Amino acid sequence: MKLEIFAADEWAPAVGARLVRFVSLRNGLRVCLATGSTPEPVYAEFTASGGSLEGTEVFLLDEFLLPVGDLGRCDEMLDRALLQRLPTPPDALYTFDVTAASLQEECERFEDVIADGGLDLAVVGLGGNGHIGMNEPGSRSDSRTRVVELDPSTQQNAARYGATARPTWGITLGMGTLLAAEEIWLLVSGRHKAEILERAVSGPIGPEVPASYLRQHGNTIVYADEPAAALLS
Ligand code: F6R
Repeated sequence: MKLEIFAADEWAPAVGARLVRFVSLRNGLRVCLATGSTPEPVYAEFTASGGSLEGTEVFLLDEFLLPVGDLGRCDEMLDRALLQRLPTPPDALYTFDVTAASLQEECERFEDVIADGGLDLAVVGLGGNGHIGMNEPGSRSDSRTRVVELDPSTQQNAARYGATARPTWGITLGMGTLLAAEEIWLLVSGRHKAEILERAVSGPIGPEVPASYLRQHGNTIVYADEPAAALLS
């Protein structure tokens, strides 16, 4: 696991610039993107500096089981923070159909599309409880895309994102699905993430802090700002 730490005001511009460069280097890139508060300023930098997702296939990392169009949904957040600010849409956008008759089959569909070409990059955030995507504490490192019951803290996050109801379930790419990506970027900002980042980076690797599994991946970069990195030695 590689750590890159930036001053708080330099973090989003630096990570945004790296994302611009990463996606410009290869046509046909397949990228999984997180939503939530953390990546928002990074996506803002990406679009402000002319970043393009033309030629890129985008996979949403996770989704709340909330009605289509609810502002707290991850697809809505990705749209607001990134997609609607781009002059050209990505070549493909894969989101979860939470209205599917069988959510199990919807998860399998997602797994199949990802398996058919893999993921070049997964951009993820860090939950205050150590989750990655919606892989809550207790998740296995070989878990696949599935429906999950949400931790109360994750349910509360949805309200912070503008949800009109409290979701108790979600769909997430599994830890195993993510660990198969060629490269993983863990974005972490803010002093409120310092304790959990320290546990993810230095604590035991295991289901209590699913983010710790990222240390088993040979090509993970943690992009943290100084407040989030405050407890790292
Ligand atoms: C969102 C997601 C979540 C968030 C995490 C941190 O797509 O996958 O795991 O990355 O809960 O959320 P914020 O960034 O709002 O602190």
